Order: sequence, then C-alpha cells, then structure tokens
Amino acid sequence: MSAAATPSDITAQIARLRTEIAVHDERYYRQARPEISDFDYDQLKRALADLEAAHPAEAAALFGASPVRRVGDDRSEGFTRVKHHFGMTTLDNTYDAGELRDFHARLVKALGTGDLAYTVEPKIDGVAVSLTYENGHFTRAVTRGDGEEGDDITANVRTIRSLPALLASAPAGDDLFAAAAELPQLIEIRGEIFMRDEEFRRINAAQDEAGELPYANPRNLAAGTIKLIDPAIVATRKLEIVLYGLGAYEPAPEAEPLGGLDSQSSFQARLRAWSLPVVEKFWLVRGVDAVLASIAELDGLRRGFAYPTDGAVVKLDVFAQQRVVGYRGEGQAARKLSPRWACAYKFAPDRAQTRILAITVQVGRTGAVTPVAELEPVLLAGSTVKRATLHNADEIARKDVRVGDTVLVEKAGEIIPAVIEVVLAKRPADSAAYVFPSDCPACGTPLAREEGGVKWMCVNADCHEKTRRRIEHFASKACVDIDGLGEEIVELLLSKKLIRGVSDLFLLTQAQLLPLKKSGEVWAGNLVNAIAARRTADLWRVIHGLGIPQVGAAAAKDLARRFRSLDGLAEATLNEIIQIDGFGEKTAESVRAWFNQPSNRMLVAELLAARVSPTPPAASSVGGALAGKTLVLTGTLSSLSREEAQAMIETAGGKVSGSVSKKTHYVVAGEEAGSKLEKARALGVEVLDETGLRALLAPR
Ligand code: IVH
Repeated sequence: MSAAATPSDITAQIARLRTEIAVHDERYYRQARPEISDFDYDQLKRALADLEAAHPAEAAALFGASPVRRVGDDRSEGFTRVKHHFGMTTLDNTYDAGELRDFHARLVKALGTGDLAYTVEPKIDGVAVSLTYENGHFTRAVTRGDGEEGDDITANVRTIRSLPALLASAPAGDDLFAAAAELPQLIEIRGEIFMRDEEFRRINAAQDEAGELPYANPRNLAAGTIKLIDPAIVATRKLEIVLYGLGAYEPAPEAEPLGGLDSQSSFQARLRAWSLPVVEKFWLVRGVDAVLASIAELDGLRRGFAYPTDGAVVKLDVFAQQRVVGYRGEGQAARKLSPRWACAYKFAPDRAQTRILAITVQVGRTGAVTPVAELEPVLLAGSTVKRATLHNADEIARKDVRVGDTVLVEKAGEIIPAVIEVVLAKRPADSAAYVFPSDCPACGTPLAREEGGVKWMCVNADCHEKTRRRIEHFASKACVDIDGLGEEIVELLLSKKLIRGVSDLFLLTQAQLLPLKKSGEVWAGNLVNAIAARRTADLWRVIHGLGIPQVGAAAAKDLARRFRSLDGLAEATLNEIIQIDGFGEKTAESVRAWFNQPSNRMLVAELLAARVSPTPPAASSVGGALAGKTLVLTGTLSSLSREEAQAMIETAGGKVSGSVSKKTHYVVAGEEAGSKLEKARALGVEVLDETGLRALLAPR
C-alpha cells in the first residue's frame, strides 16, 4: 500500500478483501470445495486484519460485519439446527514462533508468574464437531455451524465405528480410573472428524469412475461426507474421530472443579479412561522454550499419525488459570470469543521449488483435456514429485505459468501436488507465454469449451485417445473386469488395428492375437477365453463400463435392477429413469442423452451382435415379496439391527433408501423414530413396525 492511498482506496480494498474471503468461506464451509490452499486463505485473512487494524475508521464505514473475527458458517439445508450449550470458539492461526513467544509473554503478565504449564497437541485438520454425552450415553453430534448453533449430524456420527455409544466407566477397585466412574449428567466434548488417506483415495477413485469431480483432500471429503443426508451412504465411507476439548459440563462444577478435572491434561486422561478416541501424543511442558521444542518434535512425528495434522494447538494447562485470562471479545456473542489461553501454530505447507520441463495435456475418456506440468523431479513431503496438476487453461493463464519457469509446488494433504505460483525472479529471459492447444493433442480436432464450465473438451467421438481410455475403463476391475486386459494390451490391440472400440473385443480370435507375442499361444488362448467369459458379466458392470457421465457403480446397479437388459435400458424414457429412487434429473438426463447419441446406440447394437448378453440381477430378488419397493428404516427396531433388516429387504427384492420421499413405499419405524416418521406421515407413506415388516417378508 503506498503512503498516498486515499481513505476511499482503503475502503475499497477492505471491501474487496471481505468479499473475497466471503466467497472462499462459502466454498470451504458450505460446499466443501475450496479453491485456494489454507495457507493462501490465512494470508488473505491476515492482510484484511492488518488493514482493518491500521484503518479502523474506513473499516467501520463499511456496511456489514468483518470476517476477521468471524468463524466460518457450515450450516446447510436438510439438517436440524441445534444450539450448543457452550459456544464453539475458534483460534487464529500463526505460522510464526515469535507470535507464540508474544502469547506466552501476555499470559506471564496476566497471571503474574513465568512458570506456566502448557499442553501442546496436534492440530487435527478435520471437521470440528461437538458431541454430547448424557449420563454416559452419546446423545448428539452437532457441527460448529456459526459457533452458536450448528447442524445436527447425530445419525451420521453414529456410523463412526471407533466412537463408543456409551462412556466406559471404571472397573471396580481400579484407582487410576476411579474418577471415570463418575459420569456427568451432561458433557459436551469437542473434536474433529477426519478421514485417512487410503479411504480418501478409495472414494476419489470411485468418484472418478462415476465421472464426478474428485475431492481436493481428505478434509474436504470428510466435510462433504458428514453433510450427506443419508447416513446409509455415510456408513459406506470410513470416517474417524478424535476428541480433545471440553464444552459444557453439568452439574455445574462447585467446590471440586469438574469433579476432579482441573486441567487440560487431566481432561485428556479422562477422555482416554472413558475409551474415547484421543490424540496419539500430546506434551505437558513448562515455559515457552519447551513449547517450541515440543512443536518441533511434533513436526517430526505428525506424518505417522492416523489423522492429518497441520499444526499444534498450545493451551494453558490449568483450568483455573484459563478462567483468569478468559476470552477476547468478552460480552459479545460466544462465537466471537477467542480464548486468550490458547494459540494455534500452523506448519507451513510442504512446498518446493522446481522447474517446469514441459506442459502436457491429457485427454480423458469423456474428452476433457487436463494440463499437467512435467517437472524436474523434486523431493516434497517425503516423496519424489515429477508431475503437478495445472487444473485448467484458465488457471495457467491466471498464474501465467510457462515452460522453463521455476515454480512453487505444494502438497497440502492433496494427493496430486499443485503448482502454486511462478518464481518470477527466476524466469528465463526468452520465455514465452504458454498457449493452450486449440486442437486435441491426440486427434487434432478443435477443442470446444465445456458448456458453463472451465474444461476444454475433445468432441470427436472417434478420438483414439478417448477410445483407448474408454476401452481401458470398460475392461477395468470396477467394470466388466476382463482378466489380462490391462492398459498395455489395449494399446497393443489398438495400434495393430485389431480393435476400434469396446465391441470389437468380443470378436477377437486366437489367430489374430498369435502374431502379437513370441510363442503367444497360451496368452492368446487365455485372453480370448477371458473375454468370452465376460459376455455374461453382471448387467450393472456392463452399464458401468459404458462410461455414461454421472453413472457410477451404484447408479449402474439401480439401472440394471430396473431395466434388466441393455436394450431395455436403451429404450427407457426419461420419465421412467427419473422414477428410480435416488435418481435426480441431472443423472436421468445424462443417461437419456447418452442413449440418444447415434454412436452410442450403435455401440449397444454391436455389443448385442457380438453376443454380449449381460446377466440381470438374480431372479429371486426380482420375484421377491418386495420387488420394486423402496423402504426407509428409521429408529431402533426391537430384534433386528439395521444391517439385518436391510439384508432381509434386499433379499426380497426391495431397496432401502435413507430418505423419505413420495416414491417411498413403506417406512419401517422402530423406537425413537424421528423426523423421517413425521415426513412419512406428512406424505401419507405407509408406516410399519417390525412385525409389519416381517409380515411383508413372510412367504405367501
Ligand atoms: S482447541 C477454543 N485443540 O482447530 C479452543 N482445536 O484453530 C479451540 N482443532 O476450532 C479448540 N485440533 O476446530 C483445539 N487439538 C486441538 C485441535 C483444534 C484441531 C481445530 C478446532 C479449532 C481450530 C483452531
């Protein structure tokens, strides 16, 4: 900012920053799809805070509240709002050891002693949640929301297997855990929900297959998952939880503070005694030097933790001292409070500088063209990185990334590293702006911009790169699963012009394959047999293999169940497809549009001509008592678990859905059935109890 900046320039700048932050808040908290890294976000927030502090008059002149002190708001449609008993505050992040020393100095001054004990804990990069246990029973889970009220995600959190529904109380006579026997009437326990890398990769692979956008990192996927309306889907994704903080506590602590809980470290021990999942390691130390040493130690260990750890949270250990220093913003709404007794230190993300050797563009099976930076190999976060995504043409232009540039690459939880920015000082004098190809790099057809999106697409139905990827997809494990037909063989068959598309696979003969490999008799025989054996693959596998946009394995199964043959599906009307429970307009239209394309109709005809006759779902479930019926389970059934009930319904040909709609045939309600039961009544859907369900299932 130049010294000559006028107040109105500054006001405009503050307004711009506020808007920009609001846009990123929306993407991060509500859509779980952030566009910038946490580091960049923190920088924006810091810039705004500095500007507002230096120019309070200009900041005050603007309408609306500043996001500087505001906690993001994660509330979304479809959830019940619940007030926290005790507000959920948050902390500003610092990346600077000097600020930690300032934090300590402030506390020394406020408490009049230099001898202060702190806990140093991993800062878990997950989704904040507040759990309530009443008399030892888990009763509720609520998101942070705006800090005062959040969304009720209890049903989703119940799917987390590592979370006990009941707090463990002490075995008699065990002194160490004796205190655990006293269960509070009500306790709010704060923590983070997270997802491990393996699970993140598994789900993203499925997402990719379904032609959906991958999630950027495990945190976003955890945030997106916890906000799914259907707990049955949440249960298929493995979420985990770790707990670290205390909210409300009843009965109110009197003489003995919190029934013997007088510090953060004793609280951690209590969580453990209750068998709740806690951090793998935390430090209890005295003085700020020891705090910094523990943080350095944590940095060395954190990559081995189950949860993503992006920093440390330092807390004054003794609750009595915490109460003395209190909160900044006292007297304001709870969400605006910020504890003076805690400080969050974040590790800078793993970044490295390296040079771009080339920019290549890849063509996917849908025709989407993705630019990738080919890098001089560099060590980053423990692995060698040779490629980084450049996202799309707009991003390359925005960052002005050029071949030959030295760039910063970052890996912040993301699996694929990203190019963050160009180190302009190192740009070669003769560099030229990158020109995104106007034609498909594989087939030369002019690229077209995706409608309403940022991707460039190859629209040539015969593009050999698209064809190659399509055949790979069709033959892959997730689809028709043809043994021995991997990427290399597909490439070989295409290059020898033995196949042009998926249906040609079924026409291959041993004689055609023999010349491809030296003494290839066995190989050729095995491959022909493996392909022939898959003529009768499950119908859903073939449907999945067609690569219809929006149709992953689950949707393919629904289509197979409903239409029972490829030609049946090809002739289905949009209306019939929309009728399928769980199918939105977008998916249905995508299916219809795919079969409307002459080249795709041709493919189906060719598959049938090549005697591909996929196997529809087992007849037993079709003729079953519940064939074609959709049921919703709610509440606790008296003698069946959810899984048992679901299995019985499915065996009878029915389908279990997580949400009640007009298309629901029956709602099976057990004890403590809640909003779904109400909805069923409101929509006039027939409600059964467990006996009613058994009667439906009984052979007639
Ligand atoms: S203490 C009022 N401890 O990071 C004190 N928070 O930047 C704040 N977080 O809002 C909570 N790990 O969502 C605390 N060990 C930890 C944490 C942690 C992650 C989250 C939490 C908090 C934010 C603070």
